[in-house]
Amino acid sequence: MDLIAKRVNGTEDVTPADSYKWQLVERICTETAEAYGFKQVRIPTFENTELFVRSVGDTTDVVQKEMFTVMGRESRFTLRPEGTAGTIRCMLENGMLNEALPQKVYYILSCFRHEKPQAGRLWEFHQFGVEMAGSKSPSADAEVICLAKNLIDRFGLNNVSLNINSIGCPKCREEYYKALRAYLEPHKSELCETCQSRFEKNPMRILDCKSEICSEIAKGAPLVLDYLCDDCRTHFEKLKALLDSMDIKYTVNPKIVRGLDYYTKTVFEFIAGEGKQKGTICGGGRYDGMIEQMGGKPTPALGFAMGLERILLNMEAQGCDFGEKSRCDIYILPMGEAAEMKAALLAESLRKEGFKAETDLMGRSFGKQMKYANTINARYVLVLGDNELESGRAKLKNMDTGKEEDIALDDKFTETFSTHLMAGIFENTLNG
Ligand code: HAM
Repeated sequence: MDLIAKRVNGTEDVTPADSYKWQLVERICTETAEAYGFKQVRIPTFENTELFVRSVGDTTDVVQKEMFTVMGRESRFTLRPEGTAGTIRCMLENGMLNEALPQKVYYILSCFRHEKPQAGRLWEFHQFGVEMAGSKSPSADAEVICLAKNLIDRFGLNNVSLNINSIGCPKCREEYYKALRAYLEPHKSELCETCQSRFEKNPMRILDCKSEICSEIAKGAPLVLDYLCDDCRTHFEKLKALLDSMDIKYTVNPKIVRGLDYYTKTVFEFIAGEGKQKGTICGGGRYDGMIEQMGGKPTPALGFAMGLERILLNMEAQGCDFGEKSRCDIYILPMGEAAEMKAALLAESLRKEGFKAETDLMGRSFGKQMKYANTINARYVLVLGDNELESGRAKLKNMDTGKEEDIALDDKFTETFSTHLMAGIFENTLNG
């Protein structure tokens, strides 16, 4: 096929065969986040490149290797590789942090990372995320983790484990970096080129490198959890106690460092699947320094984001229930020109009352229209021909039971149809 009719590598289409699954997942995300008091933000798709370089960090893979950056007339812009930096910029720029704290927001957005495309790893992907600013309490960490867990349960996903860690604050990291550099020093020449450049500025990034040799070396590295200051240690202990009290199962995994530089204290990841299919469906943590670094008052903050493609892949693999595809309530089947006009009017009056109604737009025969009504899974079919127009009565066929009933085409038609529809749905539910 011609190149113009092909989608770009690392991107995906969602057709109606699957879009109802996305709608379900997005509805669950929105309703659950709102139950915790989070409100929606909508932010631009691209930001000044510097925003990501400074917050995500110039020694991360995301900034060094994966950003899609375009040159404007005078400055560079980057398609957001994640939602946190833009959301915090939005909170600051709109004065939200001067309002009652904590500020709690959520978003559903597309992100862009130039990674090697594979199942669950795309150039354009979608995240649902939440960000909370203003609370330094471990109970905020617990609430955010609880929300993520609640979502995963509502999706119907089993086989998901929660890993938590603390990567401390800049104070504890000073000591830790000394120990880490001392450990890495003898291996310095074996490290990949990127990691050699990370050695001085940000040695913790080396622990997150995907190269085989660097990850082998990283296995024996000292753990940041052993270098926490009193404040960070107490915070982590309180968080664990809170999670225990809420009966949220977790594993402390001291190797989690996350791939973005802004994190402080708590970090966490939800991992789904087994063996080769295993992957992170949700990641998050605290980033207490970001707001001040962006020029705001020092304000603690935290959040998480989940990859919606990965959520859907896992839901499909686990056979989760996506509910019924939305059904057409009534297909009005006209036979002849006069009936076509009446059908269009009836369909429109039904739609105005909130019903899903369709009629013929293809000039099809009776048989082909019945076939189409089956394809769109119509609950009812109303046949309209010259006789029906003359008598003012028509047959309403219940497509699930095959039962036909005589119905008047008068000004009470919508009301009468509504009664039939409710009775039909009720009967369907009773019959399972
Ligand atoms: P992240 O771990 O980089 O964190 O991404 C969050 C989630 O996005 C991942 O767990 C994964 O499910 C999904 N994801 C990441 N990259 C891809 C990709 N190339 N293709 C498909 N899915 C992907 C963040 O983005 C942070 N902003 C999360 C956060 C919010 N931390 C605090 N607040």
